[in-house]
Amino acid sequence: MEKKEMLYEGKAKKVYATEDPQQLIVSYKDDATAFNGLKKGTITGKGVINNRMSNLLMARLEKDGIPTHLIKELNDRETLVKKVSIVPLEVIVRNISAGSFAKRYGVEEGIVFDQPTFELSYKNDDLGDPLMNDDHALALKLATPEELALIRRYALTVDKLMQEVWAECGVTLVDFKLEFGRLDDGTIVLADEISPDTCRLWDSETHEKLDKDRFRRDMGGVEAAYEQVMSRLTQHL
Ligand code: TMP
Ligand code: ASP
Repeated sequence: MEKKEMLYEGKAKKVYATEDPQQLIVSYKDDATAFNGLKKGTITGKGVINNRMSNLLMARLEKDGIPTHLIKELNDRETLVKKVSIVPLEVIVRNISAGSFAKRYGVEEGIVFDQPTFELSYKNDDLGDPLMNDDHALALKLATPEELALIRRYALTVDKLMQEVWAECGVTLVDFKLEFGRLDDGTIVLADEISPDTCRLWDSETHEKLDKDRFRRDMGGVEAAYEQVMSRLTQHL
């Protein structure tokens, strides 16, 4: 499948048309941003890792009944995916306090929750992706009640399955962000990516951060952390 014109360039990926109007090619970049694009940098090799990792994880989720946009990995950085229209919601599941949760509620990172929390943000960079509840999403007609119920069910299932996979790699899945899309017939599928850009991954023993927080917080060892989680995953899967 050949790339045609570029349709969209995001912070971490480019999206190209193909000869099939229902199929797109995503190309993963090494560019990294944080704080709504305020902080910019490069994580060398990130595009290759995120492409491969996201595909491995989505293939695994498909096997367990979660529909995804994945069609086929084309090369190191590029994957053929189903064309979707993105539901403009950032769907966040948390198992342990960290990041904006810890900040918003004034608690330390590392509190293990009795049950996962499910949270939505409005995917809108101009507004800084504000937190929203289901009623707000319905009021703005971002999704139907049925879609929201399905998205919640899928997200919590993804959490359960991904926690299992990562635990077997000696990694704790702290939290993550998903995006869903609609196929032309309205079917909701998991889209975007699942990677150290979009998940918090801590070493299960040492609690060392093995994800994009190393970039966000200038901790160093960013590339090594991405390589570390990728190698643990490939050794396991
Ligand atoms: P948060 O604690 O900053 O709200 O982040 C929650 C999770 O969502 C974390 O795993 C990182 C991920 N995330 C993204 O994928 N994109 C974003 O723009 C933000 C803010 C967080
Ligand atoms: N990618 C996001 C941005 O630049 C934020 C993040 O992942 O922290 O806005």
